[in-house]
Amino acid sequence: MMMMMMKKKKKKKKKKKKKKKKEEEEENEEENVYGVFDTKTPTLVVRDLDMIRDICVKNFNSFVNHRPFEVPEPLDRMLTVIKDEQWKNVRTTVSPAFSTVKLRRLFQHIIHNARSLVENLREKREKGEPVELKQLMSCFTMDVIASTAFGTQTDSLKNEGNEFMVRAKRVMKSGLNMVLLGFFLPFLAKTLNRLGLGFLRKDDIEFFTSFVDEAMERRKQEKAEGVTKRHDFLQLLMEADAEGDNLDLANDNMSQTEALALKTTRRPLVRQEIQGQAIIFLFAGYDTVSTVLSFTLFLLAQNPDCCTRLQQEIDDKLGNGQPTYTNMQDMPYIDQVLNEAMRLYPPGLVLDRICSEDTQVGDTIIPKGMIIQFPCYAIHRDPNIWPDPDVFDPERFTAERKHGRHPYAHLPFGQGPRSCVGMRLALLEIKVALSAILQDMTPVPCSKTVYPPRLKFFQMAAEDGLWVKFTPRK
Ligand code: HEM
Repeated sequence: MMMMMMKKKKKKKKKKKKKKKKEEEEENEEENVYGVFDTKTPTLVVRDLDMIRDICVKNFNSFVNHRPFEVPEPLDRMLTVIKDEQWKNVRTTVSPAFSTVKLRRLFQHIIHNARSLVENLREKREKGEPVELKQLMSCFTMDVIASTAFGTQTDSLKNEGNEFMVRAKRVMKSGLNMVLLGFFLPFLAKTLNRLGLGFLRKDDIEFFTSFVDEAMERRKQEKAEGVTKRHDFLQLLMEADAEGDNLDLANDNMSQTEALALKTTRRPLVRQEIQGQAIIFLFAGYDTVSTVLSFTLFLLAQNPDCCTRLQQEIDDKLGNGQPTYTNMQDMPYIDQVLNEAMRLYPPGLVLDRICSEDTQVGDTIIPKGMIIQFPCYAIHRDPNIWPDPDVFDPERFTAERKHGRHPYAHLPFGQGPRSCVGMRLALLEIKVALSAILQDMTPVPCSKTVYPPRLKFFQMAAEDGLWVKFTPRK
């Protein structure tokens, strides 16, 4: 009797729990838009995908800017920080840096560094050493961005202790502290900066500022000496320099559309703007790319069937040859794998905008000054959009499955005119590195592997590192 009563009680409890869960789920479904106080600042969290589309695209003019963020000069001129007209001008000027013509020119830098990466991995493989992917891929992406942005060889893969790399790592780390501080205690960030006590070390900022200045001076000298023009971001930014030379479109092999866009909308950049953009390219292009590359290889080590299929695609496309700009363009499975890796581990966990005038979006009137957040990580793991959201399944990104889904359900590069300006370079770099590695070897789990990875607080980084081993293919 007692047993029966206990069973009944258990059943009732289970039913109650189920009912509560259902109610919670229904409530959650309705809560696709809700307000929170970020300390004193009212913030609207938007998960509704139609609303995200309207904010990013349809009503873009009311949501051009990110939330204000105090940083010292010349970082206050970075594309991510500047606003309105200044942003439009600078964005128009830097966008052509990522056109097909420019990327083709940068391709040699990428291939050169990918070869060094494979050599480095081969040495580790021959010694049977495990590899912490994030650390190694960071060296690769630092070398790529230093050469594509400034034409500088940092050789971080061979010499991790070089000054450029050490300072870049420190700024990245302190930049993250600034973000955390700005997020939780924005009022303090302002005061600390004014007092010169910000988290970014003054000497680090000065190092990168003078690095850019010296590179610019060298270019001017080279031009006077008749040395052939270089093809990198700094050159492009300098050609838009108010104090510098006029843009030499005739010698630039640019497409007509690009040239026209530059001529009609370009305002010359002043020196601090050039410094700001050179620095943001460096930092925006370093950690993000290495994060995606390392999580992708880590996921492939855990999913050997996907890895074999990807290797098959690479073999079919490249044979024993090396990647070229053209053959990197048409590889549907690598795109599926990357999209799925960025769904699970997007470097931009939360994106933001600030509303510049009262605006109706769907049924909601968003008041001027309201900060908007898009919780990308949460959207990417929403079981209503992605069944079994924690499972790595590149099949989610076949053309057919993509067609049946809301296009704003996947936001690794943001959306609309303020989305990532470096997306094409990033994808090219990642595909070249992945193809070069997987042509030669296969990532497999090792004794240090911790899977699934435990993520660090507020960062897309693994608490225990991303450890794998590489085995030869043939
Ligand atoms: C896989 C690698 C990358 C990811 C996942 C990524 C992601 C993002 C995201 C989410 C944003 C904000 C978009 C928004 O608010 O809608 C952004 C902005 C930006 N990214 Fe990237 N990014 C990557 C690589 C790069 C690279 C290689 C560069 C440059 C060399 C770059 C330069 C920038 C810049 C300058 C912005 C600011 C754009 C603006 O405010 O107009 N990113 N990126």
